[in-house]
Amino acid sequence: MEKEKPFSKSEPTFRSLVENSLTGIYINLGGAIVFANKRFADIFGYSVDEVIGMDYLEFVHPEDRPKVEEVHRKRLKDEAAPAEYESRGLTKDGRTIWINRRNTRIEYEGKPAILGNMVDITQQKRLREKLVQMEKLASLGTFTAGVAHELNNPLNNISSSLQIILEEWDSEADEFKKSLLHDVEDQVERGQNIIKALFDFSRTDGLDLQEVNFYGVVNQAIKRIREKIPENIDLDVEVAEDVQAYLSYEHVQQVLINLILNAVQAMEDGGNLRIAAYHEPKENNFCFEVADTGRGITQEQLNKIFDPFYTTKEPSKGTGLGLSITHGIVQQHGGKIDVSSQPGEGSKFTVCLPEA
Ligand SMILES: Nc1ncnc2c1ncn2[C@@H]1O[C@H](COP(=O)(O)OP(=O)(O)OP(=O)(O)O)[C@@H](O)[C@H]1O
Ligand SMILES: [Mg+2]
Repeated sequence: MEKEKPFSKSEPTFRSLVENSLTGIYINLGGAIVFANKRFADIFGYSVDEVIGMDYLEFVHPEDRPKVEEVHRKRLKDEAAPAEYESRGLTKDGRTIWINRRNTRIEYEGKPAILGNMVDITQQKRLREKLVQMEKLASLGTFTAGVAHELNNPLNNISSSLQIILEEWDSEADEFKKSLLHDVEDQVERGQNIIKALFDFSRTDGLDLQEVNFYGVVNQAIKRIREKIPENIDLDVEVAEDVQAYLSYEHVQQVLINLILNAVQAMEDGGNLRIAAYHEPKENNFCFEVADTGRGITQEQLNKIFDPFYTTKEPSKGTGLGLSITHGIVQQHGGKIDVSSQPGEGSKFTVCLPEA
């Protein structure tokens, strides 16, 4: 195989071609970056001067270093290696980005070196993931509705038979058997709750958008779950009584209930639950937030909390559908939901919906 021509830095046309390239270009000689164009430095948030002399692996996410090293090693030995592949990169300020890489073996100042070419694909990757997620959710919705429907009838039948047996029970006769039946009743109720959540999750009914008093939505939501908010939780509703918003009353109430219940469940030893709402006239948004001083969410969990069935709670407490239902409703409104959290210090969920 014919080796590539040595890279001559003195060639002016070639130099300007490389320097103005939209892909990041670098030369790795013996593990150190000996040449990089501006785009390469930009991708990782450095200046060109800074990157010269750095170890090429410093630009690679630690978990992907073995893979990248392997490709470089094989390339230098002229062994078969993928022509193009993806890996995670690491920027100067510690962010993880996605990189599409290609490289070839060249001679640089008389020694074998790697000429690498890279494109930052973080944005595409995110969009692709989001799309896959949306498709998954859509098909899951149909499936879920089917399963929930099928399970609902037998459970309801069991439940009504139980009611009748319990009502007709000669209470003196056999307390033990009766208590077993009460256990069965509890379990059936648990199943029915899960099915209700599945119906909520898969609901595809359209939004009934209307101008509503948001203070009223919040109060109604709180009323519906009052008995689930223990005494040791301080409730701060920082919502002006006259604040109006354009939204689907039922759906947004469901969002509030899900967020409030999560906040309550994150504060087992009590704490402060704050609900606020405000308009963002510049962005033409109406936003509300639910914040707690509970246990908080780790970085790793943050990536999963909106996934259907993701829960850290015991089976009797959570189905893991609350936030994915919430996410779906916010999306139906064309809005956005964000979360910020500090483990041990609490979490804040912010929902912003576009104004009419
Ligand atoms: N305010 C919060 N504080 C701490 N963790 C939270 C908070 N909100 C959500 N989480 C985490 O996100 C997970 C998923 O939440 P989600 O509401 O989707 O499901 P769940 O509450 O576990 O169950 P479900 O809502 O179906 O009863 C929770 O199990 C919890 O680990
Ligand atoms: Mg929940």
